[in-house]
Amino acid sequence: MTRAEEAELTRRAGGGAAGRDDPWDGRVVSPLADGEERVIEGALRPKRLDDFVGQPRVREQLNLLLRSALRRGRPPDHVLLSGPPGLGKTTIAMIIAAELGAPLRPTSGPAIERAGDLAAVLSTLQEGEVLFIDEIHRLARPAEEMLYLAMEDFRVDIIVGKGPGATAIPLDIAPFTLVGATTRAGLLPAPLRDRFGFTGHLDLYQPEELGVIVRRSAGLLGVKIEDGGVDELARRSRGTPRIANRLLRRVRDYAEVRADGVVTKELTRTALELYEVDELGLDRLDRAVLDALIRRFGGGPVGLSTLAVAVGEEAETVEVVAEPFLVRHGMLARTPRGRVATRAGWEHLGLTPPASLDLPGTLFD
Ligand SMILES: Nc1ncnc2c1ncn2[C@@H]1O[C@H](COP(=O)(O)OP(=O)(O)OP(=O)(O)O)[C@@H](O)[C@H]1O
Ligand SMILES: [Mg+2]
Repeated sequence: MTRAEEAELTRRAGGGAAGRDDPWDGRVVSPLADGEERVIEGALRPKRLDDFVGQPRVREQLNLLLRSALRRGRPPDHVLLSGPPGLGKTTIAMIIAAELGAPLRPTSGPAIERAGDLAAVLSTLQEGEVLFIDEIHRLARPAEEMLYLAMEDFRVDIIVGKGPGATAIPLDIAPFTLVGATTRAGLLPAPLRDRFGFTGHLDLYQPEELGVIVRRSAGLLGVKIEDGGVDELARRSRGTPRIANRLLRRVRDYAEVRADGVVTKELTRTALELYEVDELGLDRLDRAVLDALIRRFGGGPVGLSTLAVAVGEEAETVEVVAEPFLVRHGMLARTPRGRVATRAGWEHLGLTPPASLDLPGTLFD
């Protein structure tokens, strides 16, 4: 590759576009999206439930929920969506509003710092509006308590005054539907979780489903791609539509700069090698986690936080991003004593597990 070509590919890969303290900065397989990417994602997002690929169970259940709400002419129950980043939580929130023909009011846990911020949002909702709270596990406690009442009784109590003289003035709000999204459902307090009438857990996608998504996105982006290229991308996207769409764009860049613009199987393989995505779609972080677990800790068991320190990442990133994928591929198991590498994990690094090791054959969570 010439220098100019290399520079062009690096520029297109958008290195450094993400925030400075983003540990994923510039990584092609980060499941998190940066600002520029969100714009492109908007264009690729399916707008209706019928265009949403995969997650058959959640889709079916949502379909029933929405149809029956429309039939009754009442807003549906509140919806909680959980699952790893990039699997379609925001997309589904938008679809819910579209299917109901209702406006969407998006906000997020970190954006609501005080109960007053939430009161301002709640009191200006229109009837039937869909309130989307992203990262709902990061909502401040007082706001959370205000939300309980709003979800249940469509009412907020505005506290006036301080100390013993303080009084609560009840304020009715329009019936609305809350859609909450979280990558960490386990962190939601039970009273909040219980107030959602419907919970959808999104799982990593199957390669066939990702193939459909890649083909659809290629059509929208005007990328010429052969079946072999689709399969290769679908297999190596960590079960994540966001990564599939991103790798598609990077491989397209490669095809435009290095070839005639057509994405073939061979070209996809070469390009993904350049971007350090391996055969199964493991990226640098996945490999680092597996490598530390096996080479530093003899395959485990080791605690999550120790493992995170060993790879220089936040425990949350390791838990939310790397682990679900490694578990799905049967390379890592979460046991009551800590994280353990499985036989497949050892073998993926080209190592043979010591015979003395009692490796988990099945995954127990
Ligand atoms: N089922 C799907 N079919 C087609 N495209 C999808 C699907 N799910 C997600 N996508 C694509 O992946 C991108 C990321 O999805 P989305 O933003 O909804 O993920 P998310 O779960 O909200 O992630 P985060 O946790 O980071 O907020 C979207 O732009 C969309 O184009
Ligand atoms: Mg989102």
